[in-house]
Amino acid sequence: MTSPLSAAALDQLFRTARSYNGWLDKDVGEDQIRAIYELLKMAPTSANQQPARLVWCRSPEAKARLAQYAMEANRPKITGAPVCVIVAHDLDFHEQLPWLFPHVDARSWFADNADFRAQQAFRNGTLQGAYLMLAARALGLDCGPMSGFDNAGVDAEFFADEPRWKSNFICSIGHGDPASVFDRSPRPEFDTFNKVL
Ligand SMILES: Cc1cc2nc3c(=O)[nH]c(=O)nc-3n(C[C@H](O)[C@H](O)[C@H](O)COP(=O)(O)O)c2cc1C
Repeated sequence: MTSPLSAAALDQLFRTARSYNGWLDKDVGEDQIRAIYELLKMAPTSANQQPARLVWCRSPEAKARLAQYAMEANRPKITGAPVCVIVAHDLDFHEQLPWLFPHVDARSWFADNADFRAQQAFRNGTLQGAYLMLAARALGLDCGPMSGFDNAGVDAEFFADEPRWKSNFICSIGHGDPASVFDRSPRPEFDTFNKVL
């Protein structure tokens, strides 16, 4: 049985959660990184593909390697964060399906269609990235997602041994500095972008 979360939990996950641009001096441990993964891995993906591949840049060296490929304005949002995760996806996710989706030969659905695989990997990897942010927020952490970086550069820097992994977006995680958020941008009322048929 499930029931709605408390108003405080909904605030933390959605209503008062913000995208942070600066970070308080409070570390995020590997135990917290692993706790985020333990939640996000339960998210649904098509045929249980789980195409996301996550590289958590926690050391100053790793963050500097990543920041050099970011837009100037994004660099301190990476180097100043306790951790910044590269949310990538594996274009050859289908090779894992024999054990991830074992009751049927799902590998064969994707084996001969690279375009279909790319679409699926991007869709489901993006979903996993969204769940990553919700998991971090659920665990009392804040997020700062970014796509302002050179994806090809990041892929060459970090995925030389994994040429089928492609970066999607990056997300700094930590305890956000409340002074670093921008004014809230508009969120439309239901009728603006919704139809109920
Ligand atoms: C996929 C994605 C990419 C983003 N890229 C950047 C970025 O490169 N630099 C940046 O400062 N903010 C970036 N943002 C932050 C958005 O501008 C921010 O989430 C949005 O304005 C909503 O802000 P709020 O969560 O504080 O309401 C990105 C957000 C997402 C989800």
